[in-house]
Amino acid sequence: MKAIVFTKYGIPDVLELREVDKPVPKDDEVLIKVYAVSINDWDWNLLQGTPFINRLLYGLFKPKKKILGSDIAGRIEAVGKNVERFQPGDEVFGDLSGEWGGFAEYVCARENALALKPANMTFDEAAAIPQAAMLALQGLRDKGQIQPGQKLLINGAGGGVGTFALQIAKLHGVEVTGVDSSGKLDMLRSMGFDQVIDYTQEDFTKNGQRYDLILDVKTNRSIFNYTRALRPNGIYVTVGGSMSRIFQALFLGPLISMISKKNIRLVALKQNKDLAYMNELFEAGKVKPVIDGPYKLSEVPEAMRYFGKGNHKGKIVITLEHNNKT
Ligand SMILES: NC(=O)c1ccc[n+]([C@@H]2O[C@H](COP(=O)([O-])OP(=O)(O)OC[C@H]3O[C@@H](n4cnc5c(N)ncnc54)[C@H](OP(=O)(O)O)[C@@H]3O)[C@@H](O)[C@H]2O)c1
Repeated sequence: MKAIVFTKYGIPDVLELREVDKPVPKDDEVLIKVYAVSINDWDWNLLQGTPFINRLLYGLFKPKKKILGSDIAGRIEAVGKNVERFQPGDEVFGDLSGEWGGFAEYVCARENALALKPANMTFDEAAAIPQAAMLALQGLRDKGQIQPGQKLLINGAGGGVGTFALQIAKLHGVEVTGVDSSGKLDMLRSMGFDQVIDYTQEDFTKNGQRYDLILDVKTNRSIFNYTRALRPNGIYVTVGGSMSRIFQALFLGPLISMISKKNIRLVALKQNKDLAYMNELFEAGKVKPVIDGPYKLSEVPEAMRYFGKGNHKGKIVITLEHNNKT
């Protein structure tokens, strides 16, 4: 089968399109013909072997997982003998991070990483959902305890998590401000953000506005600045960003909560936990993934370069050739 392989850490030039052996499912796995796969920040970090924790876990000097790509959608070709929930022909999607392997024509996955894809959802749409939508939902609902009538700010609003977060937030009747770079503000407005802020022109922690809830995918400021932008009893939720800033939030958060009654929380992704709920929202027409692309499998290096520059809008999706023939 064809796959995008990397054998050393580096820039996207180290990614090569190669012929490799088709994987064979273990007893508790299914074999999936991949129709679409999207790019996540984790792919970008693993490509470069950063931060260092990724090297400790996934290969100190060279990558142990040689095929990246976690958020896949496809059709099941074969099932291991212990698989109970799926059968060949089922259309599925899910987040395979921890194993990866999605930048390929076929990948194996355990059944608990997968959900059935609704018939009216395209493979491209399905591949855009798993990680970004879980982070958005778990950030707003589980950690952020979002309530009607609140003022919410999403920092890093135009990427994967932000574009899902807006749509989920709007279901709760909140007023949403989105922060991103100038080139994305028109898209944010057209998606339904009530206010937009260009982070290159304005620091939202210093403009005097206060929010009940902040969802941050970039965590690049001091936790004290974020706290200042919260209303009394407000909640700041970090999804990701600078490791040092996140550690600061983690360690100083309890102290800040004691002194100021403002809450600092961190999302620890529960992979695939709410895919069935996302299916419900999608089928009810309440959420639609924002797709940048799609690109071809051979274009993964270029798509990764584009992701690294941060200019993408929503989720970058790769479509496999056989997807266009169905
Ligand atoms: N907590 C967990 O368990 C867990 C698990 C997996 C992933 N993650 C994290 O989840 C996040 C994924 O986010 P995503 O998929 O939405 O990323 P994304 O698609 O790259 O979107 C990030 C957005 O932020 C914008 N941005 C860049 N610098 C900014 C700044 N200084 N201020 C405001 N916005 C800025 C980017 O646009 P421009 O570049 O044009 O500015 C982009 O639109 C990552 O932080 C990742 O590390 C967390």
